[in-house]
Amino acid sequence: MDRAAELIRHRVTAAGGKMPTVAVVLGSGLGAFASELDGSVVIPYEEIPGWPRSTAIGHAGKLVVGSCNGIATAVLAGRAHLYEGYTAQQAVYGIRVLRRLGVESVVLTNAAGGINVSYRPGDLVLISDHINLLGQNPLSGPNDDELGPRFPDMTEAYSKAFRVIAREAAASLGVSMPEGIYVAVPGPSYETPAEIRYLRVIGADLVGMSTVPEAIAASHMGMRTLGISCVTNHAAGVVDQKLNHHEVLEVGERMKGTLIDLLRCVVPAIAGA
Ligand code: HPA
Repeated sequence: MDRAAELIRHRVTAAGGKMPTVAVVLGSGLGAFASELDGSVVIPYEEIPGWPRSTAIGHAGKLVVGSCNGIATAVLAGRAHLYEGYTAQQAVYGIRVLRRLGVESVVLTNAAGGINVSYRPGDLVLISDHINLLGQNPLSGPNDDELGPRFPDMTEAYSKAFRVIAREAAASLGVSMPEGIYVAVPGPSYETPAEIRYLRVIGADLVGMSTVPEAIAASHMGMRTLGISCVTNHAAGVVDQKLNHHEVLEVGERMKGTLIDLLRCVVPAIAGA
């Protein structure tokens, strides 16, 4: 991790850039924000020691460091998922490296299936809390006391203050953004209708295959997190329609403008909060 952090620091400072204080992780089909930064330095994941490569379709696999409305920001265009064969520890490698470089706030975005019947494909939903059904935790194994405590509190895994900021930003853009509980499942198969009924009963509004490892690792390191889901589809069985990854990417593509506008507002606001 030291070598990864040094490489990033070297590339960014050599290009005259500032070290980031905010990180934004972009989910499936949501990579467009990466090209919105000014004066950006692009580092493909394969050039960073230890950094897992993105193998998922719809994930670019590059770290972009640049300015978002004057705030030095690191954008992770593409992430590592458990369904690619990565461990939860590998999934949080990038967040841990960025913490070392001084990042304090994280925005996690994802594509998710809508379990809550009031959600429509194309909706943005603010994540208020999560349920971890991945069967893995990135903090398993010996604790690195330098990163954080053995038993970190998770009562506010998604910062209340950041949620207030995000709601205000959405309102200023005229975008409605309800709150919901995100459940992470390992995938890669989509859920059965019976599983979706079960997930609804246990309190989930959204289902996806990411985000939770990063949110846990960020909390562990004392970082504040904002989570935004893009509802790309009704979860299985909510409507009489089959699910496919192309639809997920297509809806993500349609929503990118709104998400970019929202992130442009939110990033400077959370950096100053
Ligand atoms: N289920 C799980 N993950 C997802 C879905 C879904 O319906 N849509 C986008 N990611």
